[in-house]
Amino acid sequence: MHITINCAKSLDSILEGNYSNKKDWNRVYELRAKSDAVMVGINTILKDNPRLTTHDTGKEPIKIVIDSRCRIPKDARIFQTKTIVAVSENAPKDRISAIQKKAKVLICGKQQVDLSTLMKHLQKTNINTLMVEGGGTLISSILNLNLADELIVAIAPQITSRGIRFIQKDLEAPINLKLKDIQKLDEIVILKYQILK
Ligand SMILES: NC(=O)c1ccc[n+]([C@@H]2O[C@H](COP(=O)([O-])OP(=O)(O)OC[C@H]3O[C@@H](n4cnc5c(N)ncnc54)[C@H](OP(=O)(O)O)[C@@H]3O)[C@@H](O)[C@H]2O)c1
Repeated sequence: MHITINCAKSLDSILEGNYSNKKDWNRVYELRAKSDAVMVGINTILKDNPRLTTHDTGKEPIKIVIDSRCRIPKDARIFQTKTIVAVSENAPKDRISAIQKKAKVLICGKQQVDLSTLMKHLQKTNINTLMVEGGGTLISSILNLNLADELIVAIAPQITSRGIRFIQKDLEAPINLKLKDIQKLDEIVILKYQILK
């Protein structure tokens, strides 16, 4: 499976807030359309309630939410298209039953979602290209587990100082990157890296 992390951030690596402009959002929609699935952590759903759609730029990828305790609200906008909610054995049974009416629920991991096992499972279901959109806690876990192949960051001309960061949890080791491309979309700089493993 090819995993791409994509996010937009301030110059000082804050993720919380909107750092994309129209051209960058169009780039994101196209990247979603090229992916079999798009993944976010539960805090992103609770905070932003995104649909994560392509805005009619192409086929809709499957949406995947990483949500150990199955906290996702039944009326989350993400359920407007096909969604998988990955929960852990820790998730209350009644929450799972309620969400099963809206999405496919996968139980994977004891306390938290076991991302490595989940990725192997997703690959078996023909999800070969995955776009991880955040937030910082999920991105940190994916990097820590060495699961991602590519990193795309859109950097906005702002120093925000406070908020959820691109790296929310300490990494066990530095991640080495190879710069593949630099793009400028008006005031926003897009950096594309290969993640060296
Ligand atoms: N600028 C951008 O491109 C962008 C994109 C996306 C999000 N965001 C922003 O990011 C913020 C949310 O980020 P966040 O860091 O608070 O949360 P997050 O990454 O969206 O979600 C993290 C949560 O996922 C759950 N989780 C379950 N298993 C996990 C695992 N193995 N590894 C990591 N997480 C796991 C945990 O909650 P449980 O234990 O309860 O399951 C964890 O607290 C929002 O402000 C949002 O706006 C920005």
